[in-house]
Amino acid sequence: MGINMNNIILCGFMGCGKSTVGKNIARKNGRKFLDMDTYIEEKAGMKVSEIFEKYGEDGFRNMEHEACLEIAEMKDLVVASGGGAFTFERNVRAFKGKDTIVFLDVPLEVIKNRLKNDKTRPLLQRPDKDKAMKELFEKRYPIYNDAADVVIAGQNTPLKTAYLVMEMVEAENNKCF
Ligand code: S3P
Repeated sequence: MGINMNNIILCGFMGCGKSTVGKNIARKNGRKFLDMDTYIEEKAGMKVSEIFEKYGEDGFRNMEHEACLEIAEMKDLVVASGGGAFTFERNVRAFKGKDTIVFLDVPLEVIKNRLKNDKTRPLLQRPDKDKAMKELFEKRYPIYNDAADVVIAGQNTPLKTAYLVMEMVEAENNKCF
């Protein structure tokens, strides 16, 4: 009971802490950590920003989908997904019912503050960044909620959030078995 080799997949908006929390879960839970953007970058041999420049957002989304299909075949991982991945039904479908999808629900104001000096995320490199973030956040929020098996308010420290995720994932797994 509660022992499940399937993946824990963290989703949520850019800057919600998927990687930091994910690394903590992996360390405490004896699983490997996988960052989806890093996985895509290694396969493509270039940074996400360069992929956007060279192939556009659509090109990136296709690579991201391929990564989702491949990762869904793997086992026993904690995965930090890219912020846009779970806004596409085809990616939700790749994981749903097999892995546990966890939405890290962090308020927009916290995220705005964390990302105010960000230079790496192509979608945020624009003069109307605050407005664009608000629109994207509001559009995506219900989609993350729908996609997720578990929703965690992620405003605590990464370690506390990691423990909360582990607790909730175990409860979710016990419910299924
Ligand atoms: C994106 C989020 C990024 C990265 C890409 C697109 C998005 O990942 O995949 O820049 O659409 O929200 P993080 O959530 O890790 O920043």
